[in-house]
Amino acid sequence: MTPCKMAIIRFLVCFVLYGNLGHIPSSLGVILRTTDKIVWANEFEPVELTCLIESISTNNPRIEWKKIKNGIPSYVYFQNKISGDLENRAQLREPANILIFNTSRRDTAEYRCEVAAIEDQRDFDEILISLAVRVKPVVPRCSIPERVTVGTSTELRCLENEGFPAPQYRWFHNSEELPQDPKNSQKYTNFSYTINPDTGSLKFRRVRKDDAGEYYCQAKNDAGHARCQPQMMEVCDVDYLGIFLKAFGGVTVLVCLFASIYSIRRLRYHQKSHSGNNYNWSPRNGAVEYGDADEGHFRHKSSFVI
Ligand SMILES: *[C@@H]1O[C@H](CO)[C@@H](O)[C@H](O)[C@H]1NC(C)=O
Ligand SMILES: *[C@@H]1O[C@H](CO)[C@@H](O)[C@H](O)[C@H]1NC(C)=O
Repeated sequence: MTPCKMAIIRFLVCFVLYGNLGHIPSSLGVILRTTDKIVWANEFEPVELTCLIESISTNNPRIEWKKIKNGIPSYVYFQNKISGDLENRAQLREPANILIFNTSRRDTAEYRCEVAAIEDQRDFDEILISLAVRVKPVVPRCSIPERVTVGTSTELRCLENEGFPAPQYRWFHNSEELPQDPKNSQKYTNFSYTINPDTGSLKFRRVRKDDAGEYYCQAKNDAGHARCQPQMMEVCDVDYLGIFLKAFGGVTVLVCLFASIYSIRRLRYHQKSHSGNNYNWSPRNGAVEYGDADEGHFRHKSSFVI
């Protein structure tokens, strides 16, 4: 054999071996793939978790799905049946996908597709998918003061606890949305409020007459939105008359108090001068000194006896 022929044979041998090696991975074992490792779905809508088999040579692989919630796994597809939480609510679809007909917020969890192919060299593969089910907000609880005084500060609050992910809040004044920052809008440039869209708070540093009106709040996330009933907020002027009347009322009470003490003392003086030291209504002698020592006690006593 010439060196040249030997080289050709070596080349051919190499080519054949290389060619075979190129085919080996496909029969080496099971390989899974998914289109989405993180899946979002709206509550009450269908969703499909994909578990695609890239390569396999076993004819009848064993397919299982587990749900992992708070670190605890449970079967949702086992021995060719949907079981557990998803029973009657899902089905297995070719090749190994799981279709949930009507998702619920409880379905938010991680799901693991496991395929065992005993005839393959690599006889097992698994893939983890996390499912998050969006929940529409319910009607938020709004707290809107009925009446505030000009120049004071006040806070309107809005809270919603069901929505997932947590909703963002918007406030409406006389059916128009309040811009998050009034400084950026010509119409609201004189307003002095701040809105926190994460907490639902609408704060006024100094309430103005123009802030009066109907308010409502809307809670919104990707699944939907809900709002509370509009409620009226009145803005009243500083109540000088009220303040005066209150102060005046206090003074009047004091004046009346002193006047009555004075008249009781006068009454006692008159009784004293008419009947000497003996009170006909007093069961005890010496009540005069007693009463003198403690005017309040005396008055109480006498009214009790009369
Ligand atoms: C989904 O489930 C909810 C509550 O379990 C039910 O009210 C609704 O009608 C269901 N929707 C569909 C399309 O089956
Ligand atoms: C804001 O206040 C200024 C000064 O009080 C006034 O001239 C202006 O018209 C007000 N702007 C609006 C939009 O009400």
